[in-house]
Amino acid sequence: MAGVTWLKPVSIDGDAQAAYNEFLRDLESRLADPATDRNVVAREVLAQAMYGREYGQLLADAPIAALNLDARNVTFEAEYYMVTDTEQFARVKPLLWLWKNLDLTPVGQNPVTGIPVRRILAGHIFRRVGRDFKCWQNVEFSVGYNMEVGHGVVVHRHVLLDDIGGIELHDHASVSDYVNIYSHTHSVLDGPDVTLRRTVIGRGARITYHSTVLAGSVVSDDAMLATHALLRGDIPPHGIAMGLPARVTRFKDRARPEAYAVDSRTYPHDGGRKANPHFPDPTPNQSRLPGEGDLL
Ligand SMILES: CC(C)(COP(=O)(O)OP(=O)(O)OC[C@H]1O[C@@H](n2cnc3c(N)ncnc32)[C@H](O)[C@@H]1OP(=O)(O)O)[C@@H](O)C(=O)NCCC(=O)NCCS
Repeated sequence: MAGVTWLKPVSIDGDAQAAYNEFLRDLESRLADPATDRNVVAREVLAQAMYGREYGQLLADAPIAALNLDARNVTFEAEYYMVTDTEQFARVKPLLWLWKNLDLTPVGQNPVTGIPVRRILAGHIFRRVGRDFKCWQNVEFSVGYNMEVGHGVVVHRHVLLDDIGGIELHDHASVSDYVNIYSHTHSVLDGPDVTLRRTVIGRGARITYHSTVLAGSVVSDDAMLATHALLRGDIPPHGIAMGLPARVTRFKDRARPEAYAVDSRTYPHDGGRKANPHFPDPTPNQSRLPGEGDLL
């Protein structure tokens, strides 16, 4: 049934679509130019989308509104983390600010403009993004630059992708509404003792609505995390994990491919890195082994 969809194409007024296309082409070409100041592009787009004015005019008339559109005048939570790479974050920050604030406007809430804008921005923020990335509104990242996204990935509304320790979303993975995917964790004994672990969502895997995936989990190809589940380990290929904490209770009954992109039994697990120099990295034998976390 590959290629089958339950979605249908929807079109809008041709003149409106032509105006949107021009806006998207302009944004794409400005961001493609290495000489572009991303802070300036972001504040200009936001001044138009939010206030229908040039940034300079807005600054003269309503300085507080204008100053808050320039990413150099705002901070993100990630900037308070010692582990955030200052240089990498400075590069993506104006585009994350643009992404976040467009979601407060009709440009972001309208999928006809919001989805292609995010596709453009993802190409300049993420470590990697494949074809046809489809991201709906109100999705948040920690730093954005630690996201690795394959082809045909879909992320639905109100999702938190905490990528400070790295998140991989493999080809055709789907993340449903109100999901939280984490890649950092705090010690039970000592809050400032933070460990980063890359979290992996395999090819065609589905993380369904209102579920949470904790740092370092590996969800294999074609696996599924049930709604409202709390995953704190791995799901083997085709497994369905449910509950709090999640346990694998069933497997999808279907033909097995010859090779998996992500199989939690063999996929390299992230042993974890400390995010705070006051706490040393664990010795290698404290790291998890492949398959060790399977929730069977
Ligand atoms: C995983 C899921 C598909 C199971 O649905 P189902 O096959 O219809 O399951 P059933 O209703 O027949 O329930 C089977 C058993 O699993 C349990 N169960 C089902 N869903 C559960 C859940 N989310 N959490 C915990 N237990 C669950 C049921 O209580 C039942 O237990 P029992 O056998 O002890 O009575 C469903 O819970 C789910 O998460 N759907 C998500 C929908 C989706 O695809 N969202 C993405 C859209 S973008």
